[in-house]
Amino acid sequence: MKHYKIAALPGEGIGLEVVEATLNILQHVATRHNLKLQINYGLIGEQALKKYGSYFPAETLQICSQADGILFGAVSKGGLLELRKQFDFFVNLRPVKVCSSLINYSSLKKNLLSEVDILFVRELVSGIYFGVSGREKDRQGNYGYHTMKYYDWQIKRIAKVALEKARHRKNLLTVAHKENALPHLPWTRLVAEVAGAYPDVKVEPMLVDNLAMQLVINPQHFDVILGGNLFGDILSDLGGALVGSIGLLGSASLNSNGLGLYEPIHGTAPDIAGKNQANPLGTLASAMMMLEQWGEVEAINSLQQAWDNILAQGYRTQDLYNSLDTEILVSTQELVQLFCKLL
Ligand code: IPM
Ligand code: MG
Repeated sequence: MKHYKIAALPGEGIGLEVVEATLNILQHVATRHNLKLQINYGLIGEQALKKYGSYFPAETLQICSQADGILFGAVSKGGLLELRKQFDFFVNLRPVKVCSSLINYSSLKKNLLSEVDILFVRELVSGIYFGVSGREKDRQGNYGYHTMKYYDWQIKRIAKVALEKARHRKNLLTVAHKENALPHLPWTRLVAEVAGAYPDVKVEPMLVDNLAMQLVINPQHFDVILGGNLFGDILSDLGGALVGSIGLLGSASLNSNGLGLYEPIHGTAPDIAGKNQANPLGTLASAMMMLEQWGEVEAINSLQQAWDNILAQGYRTQDLYNSLDTEILVSTQELVQLFCKLL
Protein backbone atom coordinates (compact mmCIF):
# COMPACT_ATOMS: atom_id res chain seq x y z
CA MET A 1 0.00 0.00 0.00
CA LYS A 2 1.38 3.42 -0.95
CA HIS A 3 1.32 6.23 1.61
CA TYR A 4 1.00 9.91 0.80
CA LYS A 5 0.91 12.95 3.05
CA ILE A 6 -1.33 15.79 1.97
CA ALA A 7 -1.10 19.26 3.49
CA ALA A 8 -4.65 20.61 3.36
CA LEU A 9 -4.92 24.40 3.38
CA PRO A 10 -8.60 25.25 2.92
CA GLY A 11 -8.10 28.99 3.53
CA GLU A 12 -11.30 31.04 3.50
CA GLY A 13 -14.76 31.34 1.96
CA ILE A 14 -15.74 28.44 -0.26
CA GLY A 15 -12.15 27.18 0.09
CA LEU A 16 -13.28 25.37 3.23
CA GLU A 17 -16.12 23.54 1.49
CA VAL A 18 -14.36 22.63 -1.74
CA VAL A 19 -11.30 21.24 0.02
CA GLU A 20 -13.42 19.19 2.41
CA ALA A 21 -15.49 17.86 -0.47
CA THR A 22 -12.42 16.96 -2.48
CA LEU A 23 -10.74 15.21 0.44
CA ASN A 24 -13.87 13.12 0.97
CA ILE A 25 -13.83 12.03 -2.64
CA LEU A 26 -10.08 11.40 -2.52
CA GLN A 27 -10.38 9.16 0.53
CA HIS A 28 -12.95 7.12 -1.33
CA VAL A 29 -10.82 6.67 -4.40
CA ALA A 30 -7.78 5.95 -2.20
CA THR A 31 -9.55 3.07 -0.45
CA ARG A 32 -10.52 1.60 -3.75
CA HIS A 33 -7.01 1.80 -5.18
CA ASN A 34 -5.16 0.76 -2.07
CA LEU A 35 -3.60 4.13 -1.27
CA LYS A 36 -3.23 5.57 2.20
CA LEU A 37 -3.69 9.32 2.48
CA GLN A 38 -2.68 11.15 5.60
CA ILE A 39 -4.17 14.64 5.80
CA ASN A 40 -2.55 17.39 7.85
CA TYR A 41 -4.46 20.64 8.05
CA GLY A 42 -2.79 24.05 8.07
CA LEU A 43 -4.10 27.58 8.41
CA ILE A 44 -3.47 30.21 5.78
CA GLY A 45 -4.93 33.65 5.09
CA GLU A 46 -7.23 35.49 7.48
CA GLN A 47 -7.63 32.60 9.93
CA ALA A 48 -3.87 32.20 10.18
CA LEU A 49 -3.50 35.91 10.76
CA LYS A 50 -5.99 35.73 13.62
CA LYS A 51 -4.38 32.76 15.29
CA TYR A 52 -0.67 33.24 14.55
CA GLY A 53 -0.36 36.88 13.50
CA SER A 54 0.80 35.92 10.00
CA TYR A 55 -0.97 35.03 6.75
CA PHE A 56 1.48 32.21 6.15
CA PRO A 57 2.83 31.14 9.55
CA ALA A 58 5.80 28.90 10.32
CA GLU A 59 3.40 26.16 11.53
CA THR A 60 1.82 25.97 8.10
CA LEU A 61 5.17 26.09 6.35
CA GLN A 62 6.23 23.13 8.47
CA ILE A 63 3.17 21.08 7.50
CA CYS A 64 3.74 21.87 3.83
CA SER A 65 7.44 20.96 4.02
CA GLN A 66 6.58 17.46 5.18
CA ALA A 67 3.89 16.84 2.58
CA ASP A 68 3.91 14.99 -0.74
CA GLY A 69 1.42 17.52 -2.04
CA ILE A 70 -0.39 20.65 -0.88
CA LEU A 71 -4.12 20.95 -1.50
CA PHE A 72 -5.26 24.54 -1.32
CA GLY A 73 -8.73 26.14 -1.32
CA ALA A 74 -8.83 29.92 -1.57
CA VAL A 75 -7.82 33.06 0.29
CA SER A 76 -9.09 36.61 -0.12
CA LYS A 77 -5.72 38.21 0.44
CA GLY A 78 -2.41 37.30 2.00
CA GLY A 79 -0.65 33.94 2.28
CA LEU A 80 -0.85 32.51 -1.20
CA LEU A 81 1.92 34.48 -2.89
CA GLU A 82 4.22 33.80 0.08
CA LEU A 83 3.48 30.08 -0.16
CA ARG A 84 4.20 30.00 -3.89
CA LYS A 85 7.43 31.93 -3.43
CA GLN A 86 8.61 29.95 -0.42
CA PHE A 87 8.66 26.66 -2.32
CA ASP A 88 9.67 28.21 -5.64
CA PHE A 89 6.54 26.88 -7.35
CA PHE A 90 7.49 28.55 -10.60
CA VAL A 91 5.49 26.29 -12.91
CA ASN A 92 1.77 26.89 -12.90
CA LEU A 93 -0.21 24.52 -15.10
CA ARG A 94 -3.82 25.39 -15.89
CA PRO A 95 -5.50 22.96 -18.26
CA VAL A 96 -8.67 24.06 -20.01
CA LYS A 97 -10.61 21.29 -21.67
CA VAL A 98 -14.24 21.57 -22.67
CA CYS A 99 -16.33 18.64 -21.30
CA SER A 100 -18.63 17.35 -24.01
CA SER A 101 -21.67 17.40 -21.72
CA LEU A 102 -21.03 21.07 -20.90
CA ILE A 103 -20.54 22.31 -24.42
CA ASN A 104 -23.70 24.42 -24.19
CA TYR A 105 -22.58 26.12 -21.00
CA SER A 106 -19.99 28.42 -22.46
CA SER A 107 -20.82 31.91 -23.64
CA LEU A 108 -19.12 31.01 -26.90
CA LYS A 109 -20.86 29.27 -29.77
CA LYS A 110 -20.79 25.49 -29.63
CA ASN A 111 -19.04 25.04 -32.99
CA LEU A 112 -16.03 26.99 -31.68
CA LEU A 113 -15.63 24.76 -28.67
CA SER A 114 -15.54 21.10 -29.57
CA GLU A 115 -12.09 19.63 -29.02
CA VAL A 116 -10.82 22.73 -27.22
CA ASP A 117 -7.90 21.52 -25.12
CA ILE A 118 -5.50 24.21 -23.94
CA LEU A 119 -2.75 24.09 -21.37
CA PHE A 120 -1.81 27.43 -19.86
CA VAL A 121 1.73 27.44 -18.51
CA ARG A 122 2.11 30.45 -16.25
CA GLU A 123 5.30 31.64 -14.57
CA LEU A 124 4.31 31.93 -10.92
CA VAL A 125 7.08 33.31 -8.71
CA SER A 126 8.34 36.38 -10.48
CA GLY A 127 7.24 39.26 -12.70
CA ILE A 128 5.12 42.13 -11.52
CA TYR A 129 3.68 40.22 -8.54
CA PHE A 130 7.10 40.10 -6.90
CA GLY A 131 8.97 43.12 -8.27
CA VAL A 132 9.91 46.27 -6.36
CA SER A 133 6.74 48.08 -5.37
CA GLY A 134 5.56 50.82 -3.11
CA ARG A 135 3.58 53.94 -2.54
CA GLU A 136 5.37 57.26 -2.53
CA LYS A 137 4.76 60.92 -3.00
CA ASP A 138 6.44 63.50 -5.19
CA ARG A 139 5.59 66.97 -6.51
CA GLN A 140 2.76 65.67 -8.63
CA GLY A 141 1.13 63.87 -5.71
CA ASN A 142 0.80 60.38 -4.29
CA TYR A 143 1.67 57.50 -6.56
CA GLY A 144 2.08 53.73 -6.53
CA TYR A 145 4.24 51.39 -8.56
CA HIS A 146 4.89 47.70 -9.19
CA THR A 147 7.82 46.56 -11.27
CA MET A 148 7.72 43.76 -13.82
CA LYS A 149 11.17 42.23 -13.63
CA TYR A 150 12.25 38.91 -15.11
CA TYR A 151 15.69 37.40 -15.16
CA ASP A 152 16.42 35.79 -18.50
CA TRP A 153 16.97 32.46 -16.72
CA GLN A 154 13.49 32.68 -15.18
CA ILE A 155 11.93 33.05 -18.61
CA LYS A 156 14.09 30.27 -20.00
CA ARG A 157 13.30 27.79 -17.26
CA ILE A 158 9.55 28.19 -17.66
CA ALA A 159 9.97 28.11 -21.46
CA LYS A 160 11.63 24.72 -21.14
CA VAL A 161 8.65 23.37 -19.17
CA ALA A 162 6.20 24.71 -21.73
CA LEU A 163 8.19 23.25 -24.61
CA GLU A 164 8.30 19.84 -22.91
CA LYS A 165 4.54 19.96 -22.45
CA ALA A 166 3.96 20.98 -26.07
CA ARG A 167 6.23 18.16 -27.25
CA HIS A 168 3.90 15.65 -25.58
CA ARG A 169 0.72 17.29 -26.85
CA LYS A 170 0.05 18.91 -30.21
CA ASN A 171 3.49 20.51 -30.67
CA LEU A 172 2.33 24.11 -30.72
CA LEU A 173 3.55 26.66 -28.19
CA THR A 174 2.03 30.14 -28.21
CA VAL A 175 4.04 32.67 -26.24
CA ALA A 176 2.18 35.63 -24.72
CA HIS A 177 4.29 38.78 -24.77
CA LYS A 178 3.96 42.56 -25.01
CA GLU A 179 7.23 43.48 -26.67
CA ASN A 180 5.74 46.39 -28.64
CA ALA A 181 5.40 48.24 -25.31
CA LEU A 182 7.76 46.29 -23.01
CA PRO A 183 10.84 45.63 -25.19
CA HIS A 184 13.15 44.87 -22.27
CA LEU A 185 11.22 41.69 -21.55
CA PRO A 186 12.18 39.77 -24.72
CA TRP A 187 10.12 36.61 -24.20
CA THR A 188 10.15 35.86 -27.94
CA ARG A 189 13.94 35.80 -28.24
CA LEU A 190 14.53 33.93 -24.99
CA VAL A 191 11.94 31.25 -25.71
CA ALA A 192 13.37 30.87 -29.22
CA GLU A 193 16.81 30.22 -27.73
CA VAL A 194 15.48 27.36 -25.60
CA ALA A 195 13.32 26.11 -28.46
CA GLY A 196 16.43 25.32 -30.49
CA ALA A 197 16.48 21.99 -28.66
CA TYR A 198 12.81 21.36 -29.56
CA PRO A 199 12.66 21.36 -33.35
CA ASP A 200 9.46 19.30 -33.16
CA VAL A 201 7.59 22.18 -31.45
CA LYS A 202 6.28 25.13 -33.42
CA VAL A 203 6.75 28.32 -31.40
CA GLU A 204 4.31 31.10 -32.11
CA PRO A 205 4.86 34.41 -30.30
CA MET A 206 1.68 36.45 -29.93
CA LEU A 207 1.04 39.87 -28.44
CA VAL A 208 -0.99 39.26 -25.32
CA ASP A 209 -3.82 41.62 -26.27
CA ASN A 210 -4.24 39.88 -29.59
CA LEU A 211 -3.97 36.51 -27.84
CA ALA A 212 -6.90 37.41 -25.59
CA MET A 213 -8.95 38.16 -28.69
CA GLN A 214 -7.85 35.01 -30.53
CA LEU A 215 -8.79 32.89 -27.52
CA VAL A 216 -12.37 34.02 -27.95
CA ILE A 217 -12.43 34.01 -31.76
CA ASN A 218 -10.63 30.72 -32.33
CA PRO A 219 -9.91 28.74 -29.14
CA GLN A 220 -9.45 25.53 -31.16
CA HIS A 221 -6.25 26.95 -32.58
CA PHE A 222 -4.32 26.68 -29.32
CA ASP A 223 -2.35 23.93 -27.64
CA VAL A 224 0.09 25.22 -24.98
CA ILE A 225 0.06 28.90 -24.05
CA LEU A 226 3.01 30.31 -22.13
CA GLY A 227 2.80 33.55 -20.19
CA GLY A 228 4.40 35.48 -17.38
CA ASN A 229 2.72 35.78 -14.02
CA LEU A 230 0.29 38.61 -14.79
CA PHE A 231 -0.60 37.68 -18.36
CA GLY A 232 -1.04 34.04 -17.33
CA ASP A 233 -3.39 35.06 -14.55
CA ILE A 234 -5.60 37.11 -16.85
CA LEU A 235 -5.61 34.73 -19.80
CA SER A 236 -6.39 31.66 -17.70
CA ASP A 237 -9.60 33.23 -16.38
CA LEU A 238 -10.67 33.47 -20.00
CA GLY A 239 -10.33 29.70 -19.94
CA GLY A 240 -13.11 29.66 -17.33
CA ALA A 241 -15.41 31.39 -19.80
CA LEU A 242 -14.55 28.82 -22.46
CA VAL A 243 -15.48 25.82 -20.31
CA GLY A 244 -18.64 27.39 -18.87
CA SER A 245 -17.61 28.00 -15.26
CA ILE A 246 -14.41 28.96 -13.56
CA GLY A 247 -15.54 26.55 -10.86
CA LEU A 248 -14.45 23.66 -13.08
CA LEU A 249 -10.81 24.60 -13.47
CA GLY A 250 -7.92 23.31 -11.43
CA SER A 251 -4.22 23.98 -11.41
CA ALA A 252 -0.90 22.56 -10.33
CA SER A 253 2.04 24.68 -9.25
CA LEU A 254 5.30 22.78 -9.23
CA ASN A 255 8.90 23.40 -8.28
CA SER A 256 11.98 21.76 -9.72
CA ASN A 257 11.84 18.95 -7.14
CA GLY A 258 8.37 18.00 -8.33
CA LEU A 259 6.64 19.11 -5.14
CA GLY A 260 3.29 20.65 -5.94
CA LEU A 261 0.62 23.04 -4.72
CA TYR A 262 -2.78 22.15 -6.12
CA GLU A 263 -5.50 24.79 -6.18
CA PRO A 264 -8.65 25.67 -8.06
CA ILE A 265 -8.28 28.87 -10.07
CA HIS A 266 -11.40 30.47 -8.58
CA GLY A 267 -11.38 32.64 -5.46
CA THR A 268 -13.22 32.66 -2.12
CA ALA A 269 -16.67 33.54 -3.56
CA PRO A 270 -17.94 35.20 -0.34
CA ASP A 271 -21.46 35.51 -1.79
CA ILE A 272 -22.00 31.74 -1.70
CA ALA A 273 -19.57 30.76 1.07
CA GLY A 274 -20.98 28.46 3.77
CA LYS A 275 -24.11 27.73 1.71
CA ASN A 276 -23.18 24.27 0.46
CA GLN A 277 -23.45 25.59 -3.12
CA ALA A 278 -19.86 25.77 -4.25
CA ASN A 279 -18.63 23.67 -7.14
CA PRO A 280 -15.88 21.39 -5.81
CA LEU A 281 -14.85 20.19 -9.28
CA GLY A 282 -12.08 22.79 -9.71
CA THR A 283 -10.46 21.52 -6.52
CA LEU A 284 -11.06 17.92 -7.52
CA ALA A 285 -9.44 18.64 -10.89
CA SER A 286 -6.46 20.03 -8.97
CA ALA A 287 -6.31 16.93 -6.78
CA MET A 288 -6.33 14.83 -9.95
CA MET A 289 -3.26 16.75 -11.08
CA MET A 290 -1.68 15.81 -7.75
CA LEU A 291 -2.43 12.14 -8.41
CA GLU A 292 -0.94 12.58 -11.87
CA GLN A 293 2.23 14.00 -10.37
CA TRP A 294 2.40 10.93 -8.13
CA GLY A 295 1.83 8.62 -11.10
CA GLU A 296 -1.46 7.27 -9.72
CA VAL A 297 -3.03 6.77 -13.12
CA GLU A 298 -5.70 4.26 -12.10
CA ALA A 299 -7.09 6.50 -9.41
CA ILE A 300 -7.29 9.35 -11.91
CA ASN A 301 -9.11 7.15 -14.39
CA SER A 302 -11.73 6.19 -11.81
CA LEU A 303 -12.27 9.81 -10.91
CA GLN A 304 -12.46 10.87 -14.53
CA GLN A 305 -15.07 8.21 -15.27
CA ALA A 306 -17.17 9.29 -12.32
CA TRP A 307 -16.78 12.93 -13.34
CA ASP A 308 -17.93 12.31 -16.92
CA ASN A 309 -20.76 10.13 -15.74
CA ILE A 310 -22.12 12.64 -13.24
CA LEU A 311 -22.03 15.54 -15.67
CA ALA A 312 -23.52 13.42 -18.46
CA GLN A 313 -26.44 12.56 -16.18
CA GLY A 314 -27.16 16.26 -15.77
CA TYR A 315 -26.06 16.89 -12.19
CA ARG A 316 -25.12 20.54 -11.80
CA THR A 317 -24.01 22.76 -8.96
CA GLN A 318 -25.48 26.26 -8.81
CA ASP A 319 -22.81 27.86 -11.02
CA LEU A 320 -23.80 25.59 -13.91
CA TYR A 321 -27.55 25.37 -13.29
CA ASN A 322 -29.92 26.96 -15.81
CA SER A 323 -33.22 25.39 -14.65
CA LEU A 324 -33.42 23.12 -17.69
CA ASP A 325 -35.39 19.85 -17.65
CA THR A 326 -32.21 17.95 -18.33
CA GLU A 327 -30.50 19.36 -15.26
CA ILE A 328 -30.55 18.25 -11.64
CA LEU A 329 -29.44 20.88 -9.17
CA VAL A 330 -27.13 19.49 -6.48
CA SER A 331 -25.35 20.92 -3.46
CA THR A 332 -21.66 20.53 -2.83
CA GLN A 333 -22.37 17.66 -0.43
CA GLU A 334 -24.74 15.92 -2.80
CA LEU A 335 -22.14 16.03 -5.53
CA VAL A 336 -19.66 14.39 -3.14
CA GLN A 337 -22.23 11.65 -2.40
CA LEU A 338 -22.63 11.01 -6.12
CA PHE A 339 -18.89 10.56 -6.53
CA CYS A 340 -18.66 8.26 -3.52
CA LYS A 341 -21.49 6.13 -4.84
CA LEU A 342 -19.88 5.80 -8.28
CA LEU A 343 -16.41 5.12 -6.92
C1 IPM B 1 -4.99 33.06 -9.22
C2 IPM B 1 -5.47 34.18 -8.36
C3 IPM B 1 -4.29 34.77 -7.60
C4 IPM B 1 -3.28 35.24 -8.62
C5 IPM B 1 -4.66 35.89 -6.63
C6 IPM B 1 -5.62 35.40 -5.56
C7 IPM B 1 -3.46 36.54 -6.01
O1 IPM B 1 -6.11 35.14 -9.14
O2 IPM B 1 -4.40 32.11 -8.69
O3 IPM B 1 -5.22 33.10 -10.42
O4 IPM B 1 -3.44 36.31 -9.23
O5 IPM B 1 -2.31 34.53 -8.83
MG1 MG C 1 -6.45 34.52 -11.17
